[in-house]
This record gives sequence, C-alpha cells and structure tokens, in this order.
Amino acid sequence: MARQHLPLRAVAARVIHAVSEGQSLSDALPPALAQVSDDERSQLQAFCFGTCRWYHRLQGELQTRLHKPLRKGDRIVVPLLLVALFQLRHSGQADYAVVNETVEACRSLGKPHLAGLVNAILRAAQREGEPEPASEAAALSHPEWMVEKLRHNWPDHWRAALEANNVQGPMTLRVNRRQGSRDDYLGQLADAGIGAHPTRFATYGIQLDKPCGVDRLPGFEDGQVSVQDEAAQLCTQLLDLSPGQRVLDACAAPGGKTCAMLEATDGLEMVALDQADHRLQRVRENLDRLGLNAQLAAADAANLDGWWDGQPFDRILLDVPCSGSGVIRRHPDIKLLRREQDIAGLAQVQLNLLERLWSTLKPGGRLVYATCSVFPQENHRIIQRFMKAHEEAALTLPDDLAWGLDTGAGRQLFPETGSHDGFFYACLTRIDPTDNQASTS
Ligand SMILES: C[S@@+](CC[C@H](N)C(=O)[O-])C[C@H]1O[C@@H](n2cnc3c(N)ncnc32)[C@H](O)[C@@H]1O
Repeated sequence: MARQHLPLRAVAARVIHAVSEGQSLSDALPPALAQVSDDERSQLQAFCFGTCRWYHRLQGELQTRLHKPLRKGDRIVVPLLLVALFQLRHSGQADYAVVNETVEACRSLGKPHLAGLVNAILRAAQREGEPEPASEAAALSHPEWMVEKLRHNWPDHWRAALEANNVQGPMTLRVNRRQGSRDDYLGQLADAGIGAHPTRFATYGIQLDKPCGVDRLPGFEDGQVSVQDEAAQLCTQLLDLSPGQRVLDACAAPGGKTCAMLEATDGLEMVALDQADHRLQRVRENLDRLGLNAQLAAADAANLDGWWDGQPFDRILLDVPCSGSGVIRRHPDIKLLRREQDIAGLAQVQLNLLERLWSTLKPGGRLVYATCSVFPQENHRIIQRFMKAHEEAALTLPDDLAWGLDTGAGRQLFPETGSHDGFFYACLTRIDPTDNQASTS
C-alpha cells in the first residue's frame, strides 16, 4: 500500500509539535525527512530549523492573531501556523503559496473545520505585516529566562550573543595535518569552485563561504578534512600534547576532539569514553575515516570503578555535557527544550565529573575543561568552586591567547556571526609536589 503523502508543511508542523513536547530536532527530524521526496528534504530542514530559531517571536505574533485557544485535539494547527509565519517573515517564499499550501496542509492533518481560521489568520498576517514584538525576549526570539540570565551575567556581551544565535553558523573544516597543509587544502577547494578562507584563531581551520554537502569536499572520504567549528578546534592547542602521552577524552562522542588530538600528535595512547553507547559508533566512524586509533569504552566517566584500570593520565579532556547555550545557532531547538532549572542540575553533573576525573590525572598532568555554554554557572563558576577545594590545582591557561574573554578562571568565547561558536575553556594542572621541592630548594 502506498504511504499516505502528507504535504511538506504538515510534516514540518508535526516535527515542531514534537519539539515543543520535548523531543530534540536531531531525534524528530530524521524520520520526517524519510517521509518527503528528495527535492523537499532541504526545504523541510530549513522550515524546521527556521521555525525553532524564530519560535518565540513567531509565537508572540500568533498570540496576537489567535484570539481563542484551540481545543486540545486541534493543537497541531499551532505549529502549522508557526511554520507558515516563519515562511511569511523569513523565507522569501511567495505569500499566496504559503497561505494556500498551509490551508491544504491543515486539511491533510484532519482539521478541515479549521481551514477557514488558518486562511483568515495568514491573510491578516500577510496584509498587516509583522506586529511590533511585545517584549525584548520576543524581539530577540529567545525564552525570557535566557535573555535575563545572559543580560545579568554578561552586561557587555549578551545582546550580540543572542543576535548571533539567530543567524545560521558557518560551515568550518579542520584540515587533517597528517595529509597536507591548510594552504594545500585551500587550493583544492578553490579548484573545486568552493569559496573559503582560513579561520582567525584555529591554525588548521577553514571556513567555507557557503555550507555544502561533505560529498562535495575534496578528499573528505579519505580523511583530508573534518567538519568542526573553530571554537571546538582550539581545544587541541590548549592540551600541549606530546608523543607517548596517555590521554583520556572523558566525554568523547561524536569524537571531533578525539580525532583532532590524534591528528595533532603521533603516538598518543588515547582512551575515549562516552556514556552513550550508540554515540560511540560515531566516534568509531570518524576514527576509521581518518585512519586513527583509540581505545573506546561506553561508560559513565564519573564511575571510575566501571572503567579505570588505575593507570593515571598525562592529559585529560573533559568536554562535559552542558546546556549547549553557545551553539544555539546550530541547534535552535535548544531554545524550546532547555529550562532554567536544568542549569543547576547540569552544574552538579559537571563539577562531579571534574572532581572524579581529577584523581585520575598524573601529578604534573593537565586537564582541559570545556563546554559549549555561555552560562558562568557551567563555566568559570565550576572552576572557581573546584579551585577552592584543591590546593594541588593550578590554573594554567596561556595568557597570550588571542581569542575569548578572560574570566579569571578560564576563557569564554561568545558565538559570533560569521565566525566561531560560543565555548568555554579552562586549563588545570595538577601540581607535582616533587617539582615544587625542586624549584624551592
Ligand atoms: C559535549 S558532548 C562531547 C563532544 C565531543 N567531545 C566532541 O568534540 O565531539 C558531551 C558528551 O558527553 C557524554 N556524556 C554525558 N555524561 C557522561 C558521563 N557521565 N560519562 C561519559 N560521557 C558522558 C554525552 O553522551 C555526550 O556525547
């Protein structure tokens, strides 16, 4: 039997509904993409990402237009209208097509009795233009709590960071230095007609002028490059790696930083953990494509009994689970999914991971703590709390860094339009008591 064919906008409405109920786009979108034709896939993706990105602003508008709440069973029409408003306000599609096709989608969703309402709302939206947003949070299209938290934490940076969240991030590559130089690869891109330039801070980074499928990138399958944001690439240079070191990547999946470390330095003994078994598969695929090796284990890094053989590490990368508030432009569903109360819980998990893993670091060894968050609660405040309880820890981030803001306990990067994501890095060295004696004697 042929599968019932739902119009694109109806499929998009179902995805947005699922996200508003707590599912991530990365879970809700793939099955939806499988339901539409090849030609429609990139459009569906654009509708879903765009509607999440502008969700809070679009909702503000819809509230002014929808005078009575819909009955529970009819609520799928709300995301359908949000998708349509996104198209009217941001997609450059012809208004009449948006209205007609949304009315059609309303019928396909089994709501023919609401087709007239949908038509009236969208015609009014088209005729009247976008109303003035009712609040700053609506204008910036973020949840109120996020705007307030950032404004409070970063009086000089909050607005630019929120504005950057509303612009799609660039596609950035990391050149595999084992296979060639950045200049060589820039040449290959130019030959392939792909516009690109070197990143400002990451020495092997290349930013593309326009995103493209990885199948268009020369040598991608052979491991010449990987897709990785510039901020994430900065991690490797902070670790000060050298051959023969035993290295732990405690929260490794999908393996972007594991691979970057292995590309940068020969002969590392790399242990890569992740709690999510299915995500470790991605690490394996990335290692295979790049021809690299690591010992992989599915484990809760904080439960040392479950995975540690007692041999300490020279270097640890602790890229903790976090709110993702620095990468909202790549994951706009975070605006709908994250709750203010999540942050304290995340901070507890982060500090606990740091406490546990610290005991696996060799004296004289270095730990890099990283998040893709812009909330101090997950970043420098974790490091400050840790430092209070650990006299044997020293903050050792180089002070000649050209990027980020010095917080006194790590470096904060904010998402920048046309440049890197938001990230945080701190570098902790475990003081070697024997070294101390040597230096004071
Ligand atoms: C920020 S992501 C890591 C990104 C990765 N380092 C990269 O560069 O590709 C955080 C990861 O931590 C994992 N994770 C969360 N809690 C963990 C725990 N207690 N032990 C190990 N891994 C954990 C998650 O499954 C997730 O894959």
